[in-house]
Amino acid sequence: MKTTSVLLATLASAPTALAHTVWSVLYVDGLSQGDGAAIRMRQDPKFASFPVEDYASDDIACNVDGTKGVNFVSSIKEGSTLTFEMRSWPDDTSKQPLDRPHHGPCAVYLKKVDSAIKDGAAGDGWFKLMDDGYHADSDTWCTDRLIDNKGRLSVEIPKGLQGGYYLARPEVVALHNATVGAAQFYTGCGQIFVESTGDLVPESTIAIPGPEYVTAGQSSVHFDIYNGDNSKYQVPGPAVANFTHGASASGTQTKQEEGLVPEDCIAQNANWCGKEVASYTDETGCWASGEDCWKQGDACWAAAPPTGGKVCELWNAKCQGINDGCKAKQFSGPPKKGEVLTPKRETIDIGLIIPVVGGGNVDSSPSAPSPSQEASSAAPKESSAAPSAFPSVPAPALDEAAYEPTTAADSPSVTEAPSSTEAAASFKETPTFSSSVSLLSFAGGVYDAPAPSPASQDEAAAYEVAPAPTKAAEQEQEGGRWRGGVVTKWREHYVTETVYVTVSA
Ligand SMILES: *[C@@H]1O[C@H](CO)[C@@H](O)[C@H](O)[C@H]1NC(C)=O
Ligand SMILES: *[C@@H]1O[C@H](CO)[C@@H](O)[C@H](O)[C@H]1NC(C)=O
Repeated sequence: MKTTSVLLATLASAPTALAHTVWSVLYVDGLSQGDGAAIRMRQDPKFASFPVEDYASDDIACNVDGTKGVNFVSSIKEGSTLTFEMRSWPDDTSKQPLDRPHHGPCAVYLKKVDSAIKDGAAGDGWFKLMDDGYHADSDTWCTDRLIDNKGRLSVEIPKGLQGGYYLARPEVVALHNATVGAAQFYTGCGQIFVESTGDLVPESTIAIPGPEYVTAGQSSVHFDIYNGDNSKYQVPGPAVANFTHGASASGTQTKQEEGLVPEDCIAQNANWCGKEVASYTDETGCWASGEDCWKQGDACWAAAPPTGGKVCELWNAKCQGINDGCKAKQFSGPPKKGEVLTPKRETIDIGLIIPVVGGGNVDSSPSAPSPSQEASSAAPKESSAAPSAFPSVPAPALDEAAYEPTTAADSPSVTEAPSSTEAAASFKETPTFSSSVSLLSFAGGVYDAPAPSPASQDEAAAYEVAPAPTKAAEQEQEGGRWRGGVVTKWREHYVTETVYVTVSA
């Protein structure tokens, strides 16, 4: 007699929600520069967290929209630490930085530029400051270390590096779909000014995009992390740069002149700045200053990146205060004149600093003596990547295709969010004007589903039948409408749940 046993296995490790990521904030020695400030990021909130998968595209340099600069440039001293923070929801720090199944390496590159605002990013001039891949001893990737470190990737700016403007480019490469050559690049660029009197320059640079960086089909982007020997994995791009003395004086900028936040900026939201309205003593002046305030508020919302418009909300409350005063015939103002609305910048514990391995050396035969002889990374040299020192732990043999969701978990049904709402300001008494406000919506959270790795060979063997992923979409919306100067927040979150259920006879 034959019995057929049916095993229904639900992988405990099946991800419930997979969120991509956005490089959202820069910190200089732990001090936040403000959400979105001095960072080039993909502007459309619906797609901001999506990866770049066309390695030949200019988007691979600083992401989609990354060939255009933003208004502000952060200042950092040589030898100081620059930290990039990634967020799956760039306007909500309560969410995870990146979903765990996005396994892969990370790196930070710099490019010396004449203007951090005007440079188009793509092309030659890039050099790598650090990278980190797979650690066989702990069976972890750089992404695991970053997720455990609140999504923060830090790098020291080499002591003695030539002063001036740079683009600073963090990178995470997710390899869960690299089995089919589709590694996903998450990048963006910080605009920085390095204060330094040093003359160190990288010995060599590469073009991004370009063959020395990465090309389709290369093992750094076409690699099976489930069945391969991960300790052999090579991080994309060149080795970590070494430095040599001899920066040209003409290429050195000693004083930051672009991208400074104006001193009379009383409200900064990312790369937008609000200035106090004209003082007034009569009704006409009151309404005129109110109008100026609302117009600045509109510009704030229009410029707000996917990290949100928290300061725009504060700004609009200020305008409402002026409006209310005019209505109440208090024609002397503005109220709380000059009050700074920018929230106090947070200083964080940056946590992990991944040691620089395989570079950071300074050429010992300087062409001209320099006060600073050390490159940042000349210090720790122990191999944290431990490529061959540890035996590799091979993952169980498994046909990854068996885990491919058959439904389009990776082509999310992102609904159109209102990009702008016409709202007429209700200035009945005197001047009327119309203003439009962009309501931000970040709905970028729906994603591909990396294959879960089974814990053992036995589990792997049980997967004879392709799993039928079930999809449960959860949507959460808070609506917002701007009417007569009242603005509320708009946010939509989409979470796609994929549950792998496998049956074998
Ligand atoms: C920097 O020097 C190290 C050690 O000599 C070398 O392995 C590495 O390839 C060099 N980096 C570059 C970009 O040439
Ligand atoms: C993996 O990449 C292929 C080829 O680009 C694509 O068709 C597929 O949707 C991707 N799957 C996941 C889970 O990302």
